[in-house]
Amino acid sequence: MNNSNTFSLATRAVHAGIRVPHPDYVPTVTPIHPSVTYTYDRMEDLDGVFGGTRQGYVYGRYGNPTVTALEEAVATLEDGEAALAFASGMAAIHTALLAVGARAGSAVVAAQDVYGATYALLDQLLRSQGVTVRFVDATDLEAVESACRELKPAALLVETISNPLLKVADLPALANVAHQYGSALLVDNTFATPCLVQPLSLGTDIVIHSTTKYLGGHGDVLGGIVVTSHAQRAKLFEVLKVTGGNSGPHDAWLVLRGIKTLPLRMQQHNSNGLAVARWLQAHPKVSQVNYPGLASHPQHQVAKGLFGTRGYGGMISFVLSGADQSRVFQFFESLRLCVPATTLGDVHTLVLYPAHSSHRALSPEERSRIGIGDGLIRLSVGIEAVEDIINDLDQALTALD
Ligand SMILES: Cc1ncc(COP(=O)(O)O)c(C=O)c1O
Repeated sequence: MNNSNTFSLATRAVHAGIRVPHPDYVPTVTPIHPSVTYTYDRMEDLDGVFGGTRQGYVYGRYGNPTVTALEEAVATLEDGEAALAFASGMAAIHTALLAVGARAGSAVVAAQDVYGATYALLDQLLRSQGVTVRFVDATDLEAVESACRELKPAALLVETISNPLLKVADLPALANVAHQYGSALLVDNTFATPCLVQPLSLGTDIVIHSTTKYLGGHGDVLGGIVVTSHAQRAKLFEVLKVTGGNSGPHDAWLVLRGIKTLPLRMQQHNSNGLAVARWLQAHPKVSQVNYPGLASHPQHQVAKGLFGTRGYGGMISFVLSGADQSRVFQFFESLRLCVPATTLGDVHTLVLYPAHSSHRALSPEERSRIGIGDGLIRLSVGIEAVEDIINDLDQALTALD
């Protein structure tokens, strides 16, 4: 339809200016396409898009040009064939598990210290739906192998660098184990980002990100994405079409903008992360520091092999000596620069208390079994001047009686 004056004002008001015919210029930045629906002059074309024989868009839940731009960008960064964007990291994880066959009668083997909501998704929701779920220490290859041999799981799910204990998964070895038993290896690469490692190149079948974190990078957007083969993406897409956890175009655009500075930001996160981890390790009020870049880290050699010279990221967790919840709260309330808030991967430094936030859904017994004690603090080191971050941590630790 054109905006011809043959239509009444009321009609023109609702149709005016919404379908820009091919402009003779190209915007250098991806536009945001808020349109939910798409129309074609020939019904045959619309039919072709619905039937998958022709490229195009028909309805927002089935795809959107801005979201496609994000998917192409992340697929490129992760060296994958294709990607599918979601409204959140959890929607991405859930859909990936369903697409590889997590259903009643099937099994999933997962790292025991995955992000709290991922743990709850498996332990509570999927279990209640008849999926057999086994949590294992993913750094113990024998334990992983034994669980896979027994259960032949649809999926083996791990985080490259785990949240919040910073354990590092030996991805090539895990891919071997998974494939030996016909399982798909799903890797949540949120903490590492493709700047540190591209798991698909190491045998992983499906890579997942909470784009809320480093990819977005500014704490202003919630999102998730899965990167995989064309064939797997098609399976995920069939699930997404009926579950509807897809990304909106405005959110996709914010992530796309964040990605433009991802490599630059990661350089600073890496160098600040290492400096802060070394400083914390030498502090008398800190009894343990988990950071893959420290020689004392149990999987330091694995991390070195995976990340090489690219760095070890900006995530640290550490234990305040002899601390309980009230001492941790006192430390948090003394901070002046670092922000106590429930996310990670932002440009500013963030602290989080896993026992009362990300891992609150776990019982105290489960938390202590997987090593998340009452003194554990997670630190997402930002890109500020490192001396300012250290000075703030120092004054807050000094303030502890
Ligand atoms: C490693 C990891 N995976 C997945 C998620 C879930 O992402 P979202 O909050 O975007 O749903 C989080 C959230 O903190 C996370 O840390």
